[in-house]
Amino acid sequence: MTSSTKGSSLCRLGLIVTLGGIISLSVTFFLYSPPKNCPLPLPLPRHEQNKSPESKSSVTDAEEDKPVLLLWVWPENYRFDFSDCKKFYNIDGCHLTDDRSLTSNADAVLIFHKAIRWDLTNLPPSPRPPFQKWIWLHVESPTNTHKIPGLENLFNLTLSYRHDADIPVRLKLKTRKKPDEEFVIPKKDKLVCWIVSNNAPSTGVGTRNEYYRELSKYIQVNMFGKAYARFLGYEEYYPTLASCKFYLSFENSVHKDYITEKINGPLAAGTVPVVLGPPRKNYENFVPGDAFIHVNDFPDAKSLAEYLLQLDKDEEAYRRFFNWRKYLSPTPHLIQQTQEFILAICTACDHIARHREYKEAHDIYEWYFN
Ligand SMILES: *[C@@H]1O[C@H](CO)[C@@H](O)[C@H](O)[C@H]1NC(C)=O
Repeated sequence: MTSSTKGSSLCRLGLIVTLGGIISLSVTFFLYSPPKNCPLPLPLPRHEQNKSPESKSSVTDAEEDKPVLLLWVWPENYRFDFSDCKKFYNIDGCHLTDDRSLTSNADAVLIFHKAIRWDLTNLPPSPRPPFQKWIWLHVESPTNTHKIPGLENLFNLTLSYRHDADIPVRLKLKTRKKPDEEFVIPKKDKLVCWIVSNNAPSTGVGTRNEYYRELSKYIQVNMFGKAYARFLGYEEYYPTLASCKFYLSFENSVHKDYITEKINGPLAAGTVPVVLGPPRKNYENFVPGDAFIHVNDFPDAKSLAEYLLQLDKDEEAYRRFFNWRKYLSPTPHLIQQTQEFILAICTACDHIARHREYKEAHDIYEWYFN
């Protein structure tokens, strides 16, 4: 008690000293460092930081040459440190910012579809500078997309999971020249698993639920996730996947290219995905055909269950599902909720660093829904 009171008054003292330092911009400010056990009381907004003489002098010429990408709003308010783009994906070709005072200078503005108001009043100011490109950021499937009117011809670039978006977002399997002979299938103590966090009928989950109900008549499925009150901690996600022979990679809705982290998880963990989504051929644009099982390969759920039970007894046949591992390597995706949009935002940064061409995106709904 006493020590915490002491701590907070120390913090307050720190606050006063820090504010004093900022106002006078005196040498004291730069020499002052808050005590280690006292959290810095006043996290400055990013643009304030950039204005401080200290950070200005550290900006190199190369940094100033980078195109500016303004994140107009934080998707779902999931904030992250922009340096994560470098840390996770080695992307740092643009200057990412959320500082709206840079709007007139931004080479591109990234606009999250779901956050746009129906009266469009929260879009960036128009007219936009002639060099500025607006990027439509949207990673849901059409089933889960509101058709907000008036956006059809506003954007320059689309960002989506769709392969034919201007900026497609997807973690891809990477080829390797030197075959990896080391891969060992993780130890399994479960046959079929499924993690379900969303079970809202409005999101289109009816198809997959129906298939699951049928399948579970013939084979036991280990259920995890919010929807089943067996919540997995983030650190349990990959180990749990790895401990299952098969994982149900069932998308919430069926659309072209809508092939999400639900298949990346088991591929990265060393588990065989059983997919429900677009046709097999569509999956094979991204994942080798012998790395997964497609529900459409079987006339019904019963025959799929029989096949899985048979594979459970045939080690040789099961092992063949991992042949691709020799020449391809998966990248585990980030699994924390607040990390959901990091890849999309970083991919946009990488794109605008490499592309300065003029571009208009016409009839985005025509493209997206049809
Ligand atoms: C961006 O798209 C808008 C609307 O289609 C267009 O008017 C503008 O010229 C485009 N700008 C660039 C830099 O591509």
